[in-house]
Amino acid sequence: MISEWLLYMLFYLLSAVFVVFLAYCLYIHQVHLKYDHIPGPPRDNFLLGHIPTINRVTKSERHMNDLLLIWAEKYGPVYRLNSFHYVIINVHCPEATKTIMMSPKYLKDPFIYKRLFGLFGKRFLGYGLVTATDHDIWYRQRRIMDPAFSSSYLRGLISTFNEMSERLMDKLEEMAINKTPAVMHDLVNCVTLDIICKVAFGVDLNLFKQTDNPFQQAIEQCLQGMVLDLRDPFCKFFPKNWKAIQETKGATVLLRKTGEQWIQNRKTAVEIGEDVPNDILTQILKTAKEEKVNNTKDHEQMLDNFVTFFIAGQETTANQLSFAIMELGRHPEIYKRAKAEVDEVLGTKRDISYEDLGKFTYLSQVLKETLRLYPTAPGTNRWLHEDMVINGIKIPGGISVIFSSYVAQRLEKHFKDPLKFDPERFNVNAPKPYYCYYPFSLGPRSCLGQVFSQMEAKVVLAKLLQRFEFSLVPGQSFEIKDIGTLRPKSGVICNIKQL
Ligand code: HEM
Repeated sequence: MISEWLLYMLFYLLSAVFVVFLAYCLYIHQVHLKYDHIPGPPRDNFLLGHIPTINRVTKSERHMNDLLLIWAEKYGPVYRLNSFHYVIINVHCPEATKTIMMSPKYLKDPFIYKRLFGLFGKRFLGYGLVTATDHDIWYRQRRIMDPAFSSSYLRGLISTFNEMSERLMDKLEEMAINKTPAVMHDLVNCVTLDIICKVAFGVDLNLFKQTDNPFQQAIEQCLQGMVLDLRDPFCKFFPKNWKAIQETKGATVLLRKTGEQWIQNRKTAVEIGEDVPNDILTQILKTAKEEKVNNTKDHEQMLDNFVTFFIAGQETTANQLSFAIMELGRHPEIYKRAKAEVDEVLGTKRDISYEDLGKFTYLSQVLKETLRLYPTAPGTNRWLHEDMVINGIKIPGGISVIFSSYVAQRLEKHFKDPLKFDPERFNVNAPKPYYCYYPFSLGPRSCLGQVFSQMEAKVVLAKLLQRFEFSLVPGQSFEIKDIGTLRPKSGVICNIKQL
């Protein structure tokens, strides 16, 4: 009797699952009917859409951005990708880029950015500046942070940029004397982390004096965990990933705990009337006080931004510097011209002033061209809530839009001979790229740290060119490793000679 009852239950349950599955398939079919007029590569299958091809590529030696580029060349300035019922369009049409990115009414797609709220159950970027998708939550934070990143404020930080970069110079001097090849990516990574800790939070990690710093390792672990989680939502079900997942959870907790401690230390110092540095944290706390930011929710958001600054602002700049050094090493004539400019501006002067930075015209071109070929944060995304016509194609609203700077900046129709590293593209007399160059994104959600990072990059690169001669160790790869941000696969290994 009971077994008969159980059989009935099972039958009804399976029928219900079948009906739900059928309804879901019908829904996907409707979505396909709605969007299939938009060109795009053939789907691998009805349910998974293009996921299998993307997974195959990300697991191979190639990286996803190159696949997006191949598709953009084949399917044009707007093309479609499917995954279950979810549809994404990739847009490289300058007019649509301008319309969507420059307007505050197109928000970031919550489906994508909410996945970075936490990592494997631990709060990570939360509702911080990069991941906040609600306009009001984002705007309130941006207003608090903006003054701390204005040019006039950053001007006062130039001495710290100098002081921290000098540590790299000391390290390189030591390596030059010992004739040790330098892995430039690792070294500039230490400088950018030292700089952001000092300039933003008044903390001196001095990474050249210590190896295996747990904070530095935690950032690296979070980046790797982030990519694992984003690229493979089912990764937690496979035992081979469990160790990495545990380590990522630990790293996330360590980052937030460190932030909590640093913020608390500063608050205490202010309360007892100690002298505190006039850094970004002071500015944030001051503005936060004016804005009456003092509840737990606001406190958690402050930690979200603490983690955000390290994830968004450190590796991106270090990678730009490494790619710039790599390209200078590959192009002796560009190297010579950049060095000549640095020598003319600085002579034998040790410290670089804010005014000097404005005179590095060619060096700026080199840095801009580096971010054209290697946009270290290679894209952004918006939610298109309303119908729009893009490049003559009607796009029904309710769709996610990807803007890949990697693709836009490597398309022949936007940049002639796109794979050639040519800083002359950014000469003041050259035509300005029209909404096809956006390594720092565009519009209201563009990078908060753009000025900060380019001041920092110029100081480090100018000092390097002034004091050392560097050449690439032969035989290394010039390929890109995609770990969410783009970094040089080889680490850029150089022989260094002191001048
Ligand atoms: C070469 C260096 C850098 C590059 C290429 C870069 C690129 C970007 C890009 C593409 C975005 C948009 C991300 C998105 O829409 O998902 C962004 C946002 C952001 N970046 Fe950067 N970034 C760099 C350095 C920095 C630095 C040094 C900081 C901080 C110290 C920073 C802080 C931020 C913040 C807070 C946002 C979010 C802005 C908002 O939505 O209001 N970035 N960055």
